[in-house]
Amino acid sequence: MLLDFRNLPFDDGTFVHVVFDPPHLISAGPKSWLAAKYGRLDGDWQQDIRQGFSECWRVLCPGGTLVFKWNETQVKLREVLQLAPQLPHYGHTSGNKGLTHWQVFIKDVAQ
Ligand SMILES: C[S@@+](CC[C@H](N)C(=O)[O-])C[C@H]1O[C@@H](n2cnc3c(N)ncnc32)[C@H](O)[C@@H]1O
Repeated sequence: MLLDFRNLPFDDGTFVHVVFDPPHLISAGPKSWLAAKYGRLDGDWQQDIRQGFSECWRVLCPGGTLVFKWNETQVKLREVLQLAPQLPHYGHTSGNKGLTHWQVFIKDVAQ
Protein backbone atom coordinates (compact mmCIF):
# COMPACT_ATOMS: atom_id res chain seq x y z
CA MET A 1 0.00 0.00 0.00
CA LEU A 2 1.56 3.29 -1.12
CA LEU A 3 -0.79 5.52 0.86
CA ASP A 4 -3.97 5.28 2.89
CA PHE A 5 -7.21 6.07 1.07
CA ARG A 6 -8.67 7.17 4.40
CA ASN A 7 -6.15 10.00 4.70
CA LEU A 8 -4.90 11.20 1.33
CA PRO A 9 -1.89 13.56 1.33
CA PHE A 10 -3.33 15.92 -1.30
CA ASP A 11 -5.01 19.31 -1.20
CA ASP A 12 -8.73 19.72 -1.82
CA GLY A 13 -9.70 19.65 -5.50
CA THR A 14 -6.33 18.43 -6.75
CA PHE A 15 -7.56 15.92 -9.35
CA VAL A 16 -10.02 15.94 -12.25
CA HIS A 17 -10.29 12.14 -12.13
CA VAL A 18 -10.09 9.70 -9.22
CA VAL A 19 -10.47 5.90 -9.18
CA PHE A 20 -11.48 4.24 -5.91
CA ASP A 21 -10.92 0.47 -6.07
CA PRO A 22 -10.89 -0.66 -2.43
CA PRO A 23 -10.80 -4.23 -1.12
CA HIS A 24 -14.25 -5.80 -1.28
CA LEU A 25 -13.77 -8.90 0.90
CA ILE A 26 -14.86 -8.77 4.52
CA SER A 27 -14.41 -12.47 5.12
CA ALA A 28 -11.36 -14.40 3.90
CA GLY A 29 -9.02 -16.93 5.44
CA PRO A 30 -5.33 -16.26 6.08
CA LYS A 31 -4.37 -18.33 3.01
CA SER A 32 -6.95 -16.81 0.69
CA TRP A 33 -5.41 -15.94 -2.70
CA LEU A 34 -8.26 -13.52 -3.30
CA ALA A 35 -7.39 -11.63 -0.11
CA ALA A 36 -3.71 -11.70 -1.08
CA LYS A 37 -4.56 -10.23 -4.47
CA TYR A 38 -7.29 -7.74 -3.59
CA GLY A 39 -6.82 -7.06 0.12
CA ARG A 40 -9.39 -7.51 2.86
CA LEU A 41 -11.53 -5.11 4.87
CA ASP A 42 -11.16 -5.45 8.62
CA GLY A 43 -12.89 -4.04 11.67
CA ASP A 44 -15.26 -1.16 11.00
CA TRP A 45 -15.01 -1.52 7.24
CA GLN A 46 -18.07 0.67 6.63
CA GLN A 47 -16.31 3.57 8.33
CA ASP A 48 -13.12 2.88 6.31
CA ILE A 49 -15.03 2.89 3.01
CA ARG A 50 -17.02 5.97 4.02
CA GLN A 51 -13.78 7.75 4.87
CA GLY A 52 -12.22 6.57 1.59
CA PHE A 53 -15.16 7.97 -0.37
CA SER A 54 -14.93 11.20 1.61
CA GLU A 55 -11.24 11.60 0.87
CA CYS A 56 -11.63 10.77 -2.83
CA TRP A 57 -14.42 13.34 -3.01
CA ARG A 58 -12.38 15.96 -1.20
CA VAL A 59 -9.37 15.71 -3.53
CA LEU A 60 -11.64 15.73 -6.61
CA CYS A 61 -12.11 19.13 -8.24
CA PRO A 62 -15.58 20.51 -9.07
CA GLY A 63 -16.71 18.95 -12.34
CA GLY A 64 -14.34 16.00 -11.81
CA THR A 65 -15.28 12.33 -12.03
CA LEU A 66 -14.86 9.58 -9.49
CA VAL A 67 -14.94 5.97 -10.67
CA PHE A 68 -15.73 3.41 -8.00
CA LYS A 69 -15.19 -0.30 -8.58
CA TRP A 70 -16.89 -2.90 -6.42
CA ASN A 71 -17.32 -6.65 -6.53
CA GLU A 72 -20.44 -7.70 -4.66
CA THR A 73 -19.58 -11.33 -3.94
CA GLN A 74 -19.79 -10.59 -0.21
CA VAL A 75 -21.30 -7.12 0.17
CA LYS A 76 -24.08 -5.87 -2.10
CA LEU A 77 -23.42 -2.78 -4.18
CA ARG A 78 -26.52 -1.05 -2.82
CA GLU A 79 -25.16 -1.44 0.71
CA VAL A 80 -21.78 0.07 -0.06
CA LEU A 81 -23.29 2.91 -2.09
CA GLN A 82 -24.94 4.11 1.10
CA LEU A 83 -21.43 5.08 2.21
CA ALA A 84 -20.86 7.29 -0.85
CA PRO A 85 -21.15 11.10 -0.87
CA GLN A 86 -24.03 10.97 -3.34
CA LEU A 87 -25.70 8.58 -5.75
CA PRO A 88 -23.67 7.63 -8.85
CA HIS A 89 -24.66 9.18 -12.17
CA TYR A 90 -24.38 5.88 -14.02
CA GLY A 91 -22.68 2.50 -13.86
CA HIS A 92 -21.71 -0.63 -15.68
CA THR A 93 -21.60 -4.28 -14.65
CA SER A 94 -18.87 -6.67 -15.76
CA GLY A 95 -17.39 -10.08 -15.02
CA ASN A 96 -18.61 -13.58 -15.86
CA LYS A 97 -21.18 -13.52 -13.08
CA GLY A 98 -22.03 -9.84 -13.37
CA LEU A 99 -20.80 -9.15 -9.86
CA THR A 100 -18.24 -6.44 -10.64
CA HIS A 101 -19.62 -2.93 -10.79
CA TRP A 102 -18.13 0.29 -12.13
CA GLN A 103 -19.91 3.36 -10.83
CA VAL A 104 -19.31 6.92 -12.00
CA PHE A 105 -19.84 9.95 -9.79
CA ILE A 106 -19.58 13.49 -11.16
CA LYS A 107 -18.87 16.25 -8.68
CA ASP A 108 -21.15 19.20 -9.20
CA VAL A 109 -19.32 22.33 -10.31
CA ALA A 110 -20.99 24.20 -7.44
CA GLN A 111 -19.45 21.91 -4.78
C1 LIG B 1 -9.26 -4.42 -5.14
S1 LIG B 1 -7.54 -4.11 -4.89
C2 LIG B 1 -7.21 -2.89 -6.09
C3 LIG B 1 -6.05 -3.21 -6.93
C4 LIG B 1 -5.64 -2.12 -7.92
N1 LIG B 1 -6.73 -1.74 -8.77
C5 LIG B 1 -4.49 -2.59 -8.75
O1 LIG B 1 -4.66 -2.85 -9.92
O2 LIG B 1 -3.42 -2.74 -8.17
C6 LIG B 1 -7.55 -3.16 -3.40
C7 LIG B 1 -6.19 -2.66 -2.99
O3 LIG B 1 -6.35 -1.71 -1.93
C8 LIG B 1 -5.27 -1.86 -1.04
N2 LIG B 1 -5.66 -1.25 0.25
C9 LIG B 1 -6.24 -1.83 1.32
N3 LIG B 1 -6.49 -0.93 2.29
C10 LIG B 1 -6.05 0.27 1.80
C11 LIG B 1 -6.01 1.59 2.34
N4 LIG B 1 -6.51 1.87 3.56
N5 LIG B 1 -5.48 2.57 1.58
C12 LIG B 1 -5.00 2.30 0.33
N6 LIG B 1 -5.01 1.07 -0.23
C13 LIG B 1 -5.53 0.07 0.50
C14 LIG B 1 -5.00 -3.36 -1.00
O4 LIG B 1 -3.71 -3.61 -0.59
C15 LIG B 1 -5.26 -3.73 -2.47
O5 LIG B 1 -4.05 -3.66 -3.18
